[in-house]
Amino acid sequence: MTLTSLPEWSNLRRHRDSFAHRKLRDLFAEDPQRGDHLAAEYDGIYLDYAKNRITRETLPLLVALAEARGLRSGIDAMFSAERINSTEGRPVLHTALRAPRGASVLVDGDNVVPHVHEVLDRMGAFADKLRRGSWKGHSGRPIRNVVNIGIGGSDLGPAMAYQALRAISDPGLNVSFVSNVDGHDIAGVLDGKDPAETLFIVSSKTFTTVETLTNARTARRWLLSQAGSPSAIRHHFVAVSTNTVAVEAFGIDASNMFEFWDWVGGRYSLHSAIGLSLMVAIGPVNFREMLDGARSIDEHFQTAPLEQNLPVLLGLLGIWNRNFLGSHTHAVLPYDQRLNRFPAYLQQLDMESNGKSIDRDGKPVAIDTAPIVWGEPGTNGQHAYYQMLHQGTTPVPCDFIGVLRPSVDLLEHHELLMANLFAQAEALAFGRTLGEVAATDNMGHPEHRTFRGNRPSNTLLIPELNAYRLGQLIALYEHKIFTQGWIWGVNSFDQWGVELGKVMASRIADEIHSFDGQLAGHDSSTTALIARYCRARQEGILV
Ligand code: F6P
Repeated sequence: MTLTSLPEWSNLRRHRDSFAHRKLRDLFAEDPQRGDHLAAEYDGIYLDYAKNRITRETLPLLVALAEARGLRSGIDAMFSAERINSTEGRPVLHTALRAPRGASVLVDGDNVVPHVHEVLDRMGAFADKLRRGSWKGHSGRPIRNVVNIGIGGSDLGPAMAYQALRAISDPGLNVSFVSNVDGHDIAGVLDGKDPAETLFIVSSKTFTTVETLTNARTARRWLLSQAGSPSAIRHHFVAVSTNTVAVEAFGIDASNMFEFWDWVGGRYSLHSAIGLSLMVAIGPVNFREMLDGARSIDEHFQTAPLEQNLPVLLGLLGIWNRNFLGSHTHAVLPYDQRLNRFPAYLQQLDMESNGKSIDRDGKPVAIDTAPIVWGEPGTNGQHAYYQMLHQGTTPVPCDFIGVLRPSVDLLEHHELLMANLFAQAEALAFGRTLGEVAATDNMGHPEHRTFRGNRPSNTLLIPELNAYRLGQLIALYEHKIFTQGWIWGVNSFDQWGVELGKVMASRIADEIHSFDGQLAGHDSSTTALIARYCRARQEGILV
């Protein structure tokens, strides 16, 4: 049965229509305990979802939908290594990356958990050596700069987590990230660094990604321009990949390679060796704490009843907002500057996973899938786009993320920050009526100063931001996305949608390279753009 023909789907539509006229104001007024009832907590994470446009009847109906779609068996299928990534014929086992030593997860009869820990141990030994200064560059000097070269899942996760956990990073090591094929990225990172003290971690699941290989070749030339002999490479380059042949072909010895496996999706790979740059920064002990945090949510996701299961709740509320209330976008608003890359990280996680319009059976989906995910830390966003959140024509469901205890001793700042978080969620939900404006001031233009309210949000509160809590947050959203993808019936673990642009870029790069005044096979707009660029190049306008 298709999703929309399920009775559970129709029940939800009827339910939505039954209280469409009631606003969040009314719902709170009718149910004084709403804030306590529509909240859930697990292992320090508190989720308030009372400011969604739901009643106490909504959640059981959403849970019934999840059950009708077999969410529970989907979760079991993922954890037990069934090949749920059907278009690539692979299991989906980022959860095995945080399984404890001694656990067993079988892929084709082979327990993968010992391999996971073997690589973690090697990563730990390498990270310790770098952190102690006993890994030396070609001239015998210790490494002071570590540069991760990768893109997408091989960049966003470690870069986001490094920003989040800088407070516990080794101050003696300067860790940077290069992702964009735009040369300004790598040029900016290399500027002022000494090759003799710089180590590159080339991170690429496939080791075929053109951006990463182009940056890695530039880095290699930069090193060799000082070091001279290619024998220096082994002191300054390590690789993280599933593709040993390509790593060796690049010139990195397999003994300098940290492996992971095709059952780890790129955007789900932070907890694999792709996290090496992060581990170097924060140390192996903290890295393992991050895995412990993620494992705590894995266990919860597997075992908690659906109606108290935090990732399931987030997923179901997302479906409610997207499919029943028609929201197109979803804002992630961390009220913590350390999480400033978290929205960007979630964009890939969510939109590359569920941005699909063909279902697992190869048929077009009949519903909207991934919303546009975006965001920026508070309070900065308040002085930029919150105007639209409050008074624009398109309601945007928001996730506010707050941290109870900051790691800097500036209480005045923190109290203002948290006050703003609470105020924004409250203002979005309740708004301000014309009567309230009139009662509080007479500054004129009262209609411009009313707020419709009724704008949904979740608020997540975590006790502090450390490696464990970050691991929890990551797994929370990973499983939220799983929940949605499973219910929508899409394969959340492939990404064929990125291929077409890559193929076309490669062809255009060849055409630019051999441009002789003629271009064929493009539309008139693209032809004019390429020709304009090529002429600028010929005229030496480009440096
Ligand atoms: O182009 C998209 C993508 O395949 C992502 O899924 C992936 O995270 C990124 O490119 C980088 O891929 P790789 O790690 O193989 O270099």
